[in-house]
Amino acid sequence: MKIIHVVGARPNFMKIAPIMREMAKYPQEFEQILVHTGQHYDDNMSKVFFEDLELPQPDIYLGVGSSSHAQQTARIMLAFEPVLLEHKPDWVIVVGDVNSTVACALTAAKLGIKVAHVEAGLRSFDRTMPEELNRVLTDHIADLLFTTEPSANENLRREGIPEEKVHFVGNVMIDTLVRHKERALALNVLEEHGLEPVRGQSRRPYALLTLHRPSNVDVPEVLSGILDALAEIQARLPILFPAHPRTVERIREFGFEGRLALWDTDCSAGLALSSDYSAGLVAMPNLRVTEPLGYLEFLNLMANARLVLTDSGGIQEETTILGVPCLTLRKNTERPVTVTQGTNTIVGSDPKHIVTEALAILDGRNKAGRVPEFWDGRAAERIVAVLSGVAE
Ligand code: UD1
Repeated sequence: MKIIHVVGARPNFMKIAPIMREMAKYPQEFEQILVHTGQHYDDNMSKVFFEDLELPQPDIYLGVGSSSHAQQTARIMLAFEPVLLEHKPDWVIVVGDVNSTVACALTAAKLGIKVAHVEAGLRSFDRTMPEELNRVLTDHIADLLFTTEPSANENLRREGIPEEKVHFVGNVMIDTLVRHKERALALNVLEEHGLEPVRGQSRRPYALLTLHRPSNVDVPEVLSGILDALAEIQARLPILFPAHPRTVERIREFGFEGRLALWDTDCSAGLALSSDYSAGLVAMPNLRVTEPLGYLEFLNLMANARLVLTDSGGIQEETTILGVPCLTLRKNTERPVTVTQGTNTIVGSDPKHIVTEALAILDGRNKAGRVPEFWDGRAAERIVAVLSGVAE
């Protein structure tokens, strides 16, 4: 069976890695080709993940880069079609909900090539979110749909997707976490970021923050409100913020640099903080901004954090497995099991609410959380077993 795997953006790499590793155990059965669309292209948004996750180098790199949604999606389709025509795969495997996911799924389906969607059926029910459109369209194109939680099966059933196409297999991103956790924890990351554990204190002494959703960072009033909330939280607990390039761009565009210290991108060291920061002149002396981090380093920081604040999808799931409290700065989540069973709380973007919830956690109100079904490190095994069965 000839398989083309598609990756494009940062959250895709940890989902494809365990599937490729599992298929590689059966070389007689599967011929694998890895296509990278180039949606994310900076070393710290892409290359570092290949190294950390021991992913094979892409066989084909489409180099599409950033642009508007229509341009990016169209460029991926234009570049992917000749690849499909040349290699004639039996299946295209797409993961998650980024523009590369829907673009490659649609291109394959139009050529009559079968599509498998990993992480199918998730719904935020918020169509202003670009990923929601990508999820719905990809699911309705796909021939096989692999789900991570029961809500996804329910969503697909309600949308009329035939049940025989849908397989509840668990979470491949957790396969990756389980595989790499020990290696990540062995790294000496905390000290590098000035976050050494405090001797004699069991509580971990920092919060970890990520922020990149257009609904949070593209609207000046919303971003400003979130910065207000962070200013209050960092007065109680230091915050480490590996900043997404989109967020850095917006902070500069809106003139918010003075409220937090960004690194100087012209500086060859990259990570040098502004001199205002070291002089303690910035508005938030306990909020430290870094460049985006690699998988292992970030996993270490998540596992050791007292609290995670995020608008990412995947981090809601990873903190659930790690048992670390997570506040999600969004109005909704497409991953409800992280709230009902995990450590996640949805707090939106209202500054007062964010602060109240964060301080409650610091005062000891933690959700216990438990591991959702099939988030056991064996999702890729189940996916490959289903694909093998389809071939017979
Ligand atoms: C994309 C995904 C989002 C995912 C996120 C993870 C879509 C619609 N969005 O959002 O679901 O959560 O990735 O990171 O697919 N940029 C760089 N270097 C890079 C990549 C991007 O500097 O390597 C900058 C560019 O200025 C670009 C901006 O970041 O315009 C946004 O990148 P883009 O891929 O359009 O969307 P993300 O916000 O990263």
